[in-house]
Amino acid sequence: MHYQTINVTLPNQHYPIYIGSDLLSKDDYLKPHIHGNQVMIVTQKLIANLYLEKLLQALKNYHCDVVIIPTGERHKTLKSFNKIIDNLLAKGHERSTTLIALGGGMVGDVTGFAAACYQRSVNYIQIPTTLIAQVDAAIGGKTGVNHSAGKNLIGAFHHPQCVIADIALLASLPQREFVAGLAEVIKCSLIKDKNFFSWLEDKQRELIAKESNALLEMITRTISIKAQIVSQDDREQKNIRHLLNFGHTAGHALEALSQYQLLHGEAVAIGIRIACMLSVDRGWLTEQDYQRIYDLLSAYQLSLPLIKGFKLKKFLDFLSHDKKNFNQRLRFVLLKEIGQAELTDTVTEADLIKIISRLEDGR
Ligand SMILES: NC(=O)c1ccc[n+]([C@@H]2O[C@H](COP(=O)([O-])OP(=O)(O)OC[C@H]3O[C@@H](n4cnc5c(N)ncnc54)[C@H](O)[C@@H]3O)[C@@H](O)[C@H]2O)c1
Repeated sequence: MHYQTINVTLPNQHYPIYIGSDLLSKDDYLKPHIHGNQVMIVTQKLIANLYLEKLLQALKNYHCDVVIIPTGERHKTLKSFNKIIDNLLAKGHERSTTLIALGGGMVGDVTGFAAACYQRSVNYIQIPTTLIAQVDAAIGGKTGVNHSAGKNLIGAFHHPQCVIADIALLASLPQREFVAGLAEVIKCSLIKDKNFFSWLEDKQRELIAKESNALLEMITRTISIKAQIVSQDDREQKNIRHLLNFGHTAGHALEALSQYQLLHGEAVAIGIRIACMLSVDRGWLTEQDYQRIYDLLSAYQLSLPLIKGFKLKKFLDFLSHDKKNFNQRLRFVLLKEIGQAELTDTVTEADLIKIISRLEDGR
């Protein structure tokens, strides 16, 4: 079987990300990373219908329990977290248990957070089933849930034992979800790898059609960028990991403002445009490169308008959570050029308001 392995190397831990097709049914990837006899699989109804049987088959020598959590970003809450903890307790799971997140980024984030907290932390494995989760959410140990005041306000750093990115699982993913995931792929190319950006320009037809060779190469290249960044700065303390937040400062605020009608990747795509416009305004990114980025987003149906009923004040309120964390200053990752990003705290509300009004006018 053809598969690739990329390692995340941290000061006190390292773990593999296996990337390939039809990995789910093979127990050889899972076994070395499960240390006790108990396993708790966390998933959602639709994903369970599609893939749970295969996974249970691969785990037939373990004692497996399953907890189903509700679907949708609005359920990435302490209530879903509690459901997992209640089930672990009710089924008598000990510290040696392993949680397995079988699902998209929502399932992975809540499961990872439950694993971080249950009995002061137990092991978990990520089996991501969406593009966003395979290239981004499952890697890097950021776990957590949302609060009504904003996204991911409650959480912990807790890395998985391994990640299994099985591209066969993406066959059932709705096209809107798949396309939203491409926003995180484009993000990685923009912050780190201009050759990869050119490759994404060239492979539009193959990627939209989810052709397996192109898909495998795209996922592997994106994961290696993320794994490299996380390996250098897993706790976001060295101004390296922050680069992954490109498009997310405005993106997170828009996602919350839309009451999660906008998918995470869609919100990030708008956030990428905002960050690129800010980059052009300060003379960093050229107009020609902005046009290339806009064209690529458009080709993947990601040059989206601002959300309906957009409220500037509420948008700025959501951004203020970020500001509180960083000495009352907005922090944006902007582009020097395609493939090179930089963190700055010099963007003002006035700069942002100017860009927003251009987007509202459809420019
Ligand atoms: N922890 C991190 O570093 C990180 C990074 C990026 C995003 N995220 C988080 O990830 C979440 C977004 O991820 P997502 O888009 O995967 O969301 P998601 O988990 O809500 O999945 C999106 C939808 O796809 C469905 N689905 C999942 N896999 C499927 C499959 N194989 N076939 C058919 N349907 C399937 C789900 O049931 C859901 O309806 C957000 O909560 C975001 O904050 C976290």
